[in-house]
Amino acid sequence: MLIKRPRRWEIPESEATPEAVFFGRRRFLKGAAAIAATTTAIGATQADAASLFGNLFGGDDSAKPAAPEAPDPTADLYPAKRNPAFTLDRAVTPEPVSSTYNNFYEFGTSKGIYRDVGSLRTRPWTVEIAGMVETPRTVGIDDLIRAMPLEERLYRHRCVEAWSMAVPWTGFPLSKLVEYAKPLSGATYVRMETFLDTAMAPGQKAPFYPWPYVEGLTMAEATNDLAFMVTGVYGKPLLKQFGAPLRLAVPWKYGFKSVKSIVRFTFTDKRPETFWESLQSSEYGFWANVNPAVPHPRWSQATEEVIGTGERVPTQIYNGYGPEVAGLYKDLGSEQLFM
Ligand code: MTE
Repeated sequence: MLIKRPRRWEIPESEATPEAVFFGRRRFLKGAAAIAATTTAIGATQADAASLFGNLFGGDDSAKPAAPEAPDPTADLYPAKRNPAFTLDRAVTPEPVSSTYNNFYEFGTSKGIYRDVGSLRTRPWTVEIAGMVETPRTVGIDDLIRAMPLEERLYRHRCVEAWSMAVPWTGFPLSKLVEYAKPLSGATYVRMETFLDTAMAPGQKAPFYPWPYVEGLTMAEATNDLAFMVTGVYGKPLLKQFGAPLRLAVPWKYGFKSVKSIVRFTFTDKRPETFWESLQSSEYGFWANVNPAVPHPRWSQATEEVIGTGERVPTQIYNGYGPEVAGLYKDLGSEQLFM
């Protein structure tokens, strides 16, 4: 993950990876050519990602407040009943904090992306069920949400960048979507894909990223009860910066697995190549399970900053969800499960 401003416990400025190493040389050179054509400001070998995006897309943290949206067609479904099985060891992060500190690279690399997501249009929105399924089909998001049993769950959320939150997501188990999709018995993975629309998402014009954002889970992970499709947060439909209208939450994995604004689920027997893995496979893998004992190549994962409180707390293996998920990995000892 690109760390824009390393905090004191992360990497010193001098150790930050130059863009060329981070992105992979060929992609970087392509991107650098595009940047050189659009700006004179990027002359340094280690460009700051935010100013890079700012120059490329005219983005500026204070420039574009989100436009008000029409009322969400599923608003009547919220708040959904909380499922008491999912408890926290910390306070829920207040909405004004979690909704103003997000990662959504389609709109730029700022944590203040809530200012830039106004161009995301979440209706009409369709979701395609594709690949190894009985009947491939496309369903409107409102029909899908209404077909699913909504509930609220309090989940911890741990980013690979060593920060965390606690979020009251509303949604439905991914296992319900798997049931709905009727995959063939040979399907061993589900690949999830974000929209691709450069007119809506200026970040997708950046040629050095492998758009669209793709993530994947094994079928065993996808049907684990913790894997959750999110349609709402804080008792309301999802705000755009959280990945409206449909995103994943897999709380035992680093946050980058929780793909936002999904338009396609493809059931397959091939392990999907994911967005961050194809950018930098030495730092971000397919499994990405949280483990405090396995550092990121450029910083420690032993502790995390609880966003909003400034507190640092020890990170727990599988983000504290080991009892629920450790069994998924017992026969996968040779895999790089924690990056
Ligand atoms: N999904 C898409 N499509 N684009 C992204 O940039 N960022 C990921 C993940 N899902 C991302 C994404 C990362 S790095 C994290 S930590 C989480 O979303 C952040 O989720 P949040 O903004 O709700 O905290």
